[in-house]
Amino acid sequence: MSGKPLEKLNAQSGDAVDQSLRPTRLADFTGQPKLKDRLGILLDSARARSQPLDHLLLSGPPGLGKTTLAHILGSEMNATVRTTSGPAIEKAGDLAGLLTGLQEGDILFIDEIHRLSKVIEEYLYPAVEDFRIDIVIDQGPAARSVRLNLPRFTLIGATTRAGLLSAPLRSRFGVAHRLDYYSTEDLTSIVRRSAGLLDVKLEDNAAPEIARRCRGTPRIANNLLRWVRDYALARTQGTASAVTAVAALEMLEIDQHGLDEMDKRLLQALTGKFQGGPAGLHSLAASVGEEPGTLEEVHEPYLILEGYLQRTQQGRVALPRAYEVLGLKPPASQSNLL
Ligand SMILES: Nc1ncnc2c1ncn2[C@@H]1O[C@H](COP(=O)(O)OP(=O)(O)O)[C@@H](O)[C@H]1O
Ligand SMILES: [Mg+2]
Repeated sequence: MSGKPLEKLNAQSGDAVDQSLRPTRLADFTGQPKLKDRLGILLDSARARSQPLDHLLLSGPPGLGKTTLAHILGSEMNATVRTTSGPAIEKAGDLAGLLTGLQEGDILFIDEIHRLSKVIEEYLYPAVEDFRIDIVIDQGPAARSVRLNLPRFTLIGATTRAGLLSAPLRSRFGVAHRLDYYSTEDLTSIVRRSAGLLDVKLEDNAAPEIARRCRGTPRIANNLLRWVRDYALARTQGTASAVTAVAALEMLEIDQHGLDEMDKRLLQALTGKFQGGPAGLHSLAASVGEEPGTLEEVHEPYLILEGYLQRTQQGRVALPRAYEVLGLKPPASQSNLL
């Protein structure tokens, strides 16, 4: 059977820099202390049983380290990680091809697992529960179903939207492990580590400036670091001081709160056009020209965490901090609401 779904994803995710900055051992993974402890337990248990890891689900906003952790679990278990994604598996045959190609102990990593179709999901259940699949061969009257036993493997699912996972699929995973936004301290360490790996000359006090402005997200921290490097190379002798870093980030219109352009556009729409809300997700998305899914997955979680925005039954509501960050005065009626 074809390895098509694998190739498709590899072509899309060929970000060599992302790869080179990924820690490969659990001990080198910065932050997420509770999650790391739990994963450590699962690894110890699997090793003690001399069995593959149990299936597990990693959830959280993009860029927090889900893919990195899946690969770390692979190297900690000495297992081969086979990577695919929900949307890449279009037909039952695609999944059957992946499953039958697995070896004992392999990890099958399905990114964006909430985007698997219902049909594929149902096909996956016996595979993860009993390590078997039924495949239909031939067509028409000659069609018959053949049961295949699979080697014991580990399914690692990653999702930005745990809430969209169907209940039956969710229940197939032991525990759902959530990644949270990182603290400035952890991000500072990550920036310093990446600067070392990329051979970027960064003065000591420049790292926290980047760490404070990356929305709690390592991937953004790494992207900003590369921008600061480029800026420093073009404008100074090449070493980035804190002042240089701030100037570089201001050029990208990233302010001291770390909000990016879309975050601000969303808050502007909500406080302006929608008069503080409540505004429905779809009207809000249309007015800022963004996909509702992206607003919900990428922008809102951070704005909610930082107290700029609230989700209510009626829709999205701007909190006083949203007005503050935009240099506006919260309307009087808003204060009653809180
Ligand atoms: N805890 C961490 N320590 C160091 N780097 C990290 C950490 N988490 C993520 N990164 C870096 O951030 C980038 C994005 O991580 P990734 O695992 O692809 O995120 P996700 O799969 O959740 O979107 C990678 O380059 C990775 O090196
Ligand atoms: Mg990923």
